[in-house]
Amino acid sequence: MLAIIGGSGLTQLSSLDISHREVVRTPYGEPSGAVTYGRIGGREVVFLARHGYGHTIPPHLVNYRANMWALAKGAGADHIVSVASVGGIRADLGPGVVVIPNQIIDYTWGRYVTYSNGDDAQVVHIDFTEPYDRALRERLLAAAAGVGVDAVDGAVYATTQGPRLETAAEVNRLERDGADVVGMTGMPEACLARELDVPYAAICVVANWAAGRGDSEHAISFDRIEEVLKESLGKARRIVEGLCGEAA
Ligand code: HPA
Repeated sequence: MLAIIGGSGLTQLSSLDISHREVVRTPYGEPSGAVTYGRIGGREVVFLARHGYGHTIPPHLVNYRANMWALAKGAGADHIVSVASVGGIRADLGPGVVVIPNQIIDYTWGRYVTYSNGDDAQVVHIDFTEPYDRALRERLLAAAAGVGVDAVDGAVYATTQGPRLETAAEVNRLERDGADVVGMTGMPEACLARELDVPYAAICVVANWAAGRGDSEHAISFDRIEEVLKESLGKARRIVEGLCGEAA
């Protein structure tokens, strides 16, 4: 079963034929909301809105451990696709572009980043050389091509703490570090998925030029972000539908 985590602007999936919702209890507290079960095409899917169904939970307060546990262990998802909005840093990644990132740099702090809290017999180290599952990324790219959505193959996703946006100087530093897009939720989602041994990949929709770039030179317009997301999240939706329509 495939799980979709919806980010900002995607609190529901219109193509999801909903069967029921379930409040999943976890050893790590409350997930962002009830898990929504249903079908897209012929395929069973579970959906969770990362920031809550009313978009009330800021990125630094999302209970990532509970969310990932609820999807993988509670609902039994064997693949997790994240949909997330990001700011564009690289010149070809402007507003409206969809990108399937292949790398992460983590600038977050104070988040619970592991299920291993030192009370287990064994310390857990995961390999994280490639933070996104390679095969699932390939399937997302193929699904995008199949439904006629241009999706950029590969980007370095910088995860910042938020909830504030970055300063122009911070974005310059992110670029010097090698980052191509910037968002606030990529971590610890990706490493928790790896700990749970569930393939995880992301569809990132560029909502705005990162601070100091393009039309965000002096400020980032929230009205414009909303406009762009309204239009571009449709592309992410179509990729998900393509993924669900593919031979499983
Ligand atoms: N920075 C961080 N997170 C974001 C941005 C941004 O510019 N746009 C959407 N999510």
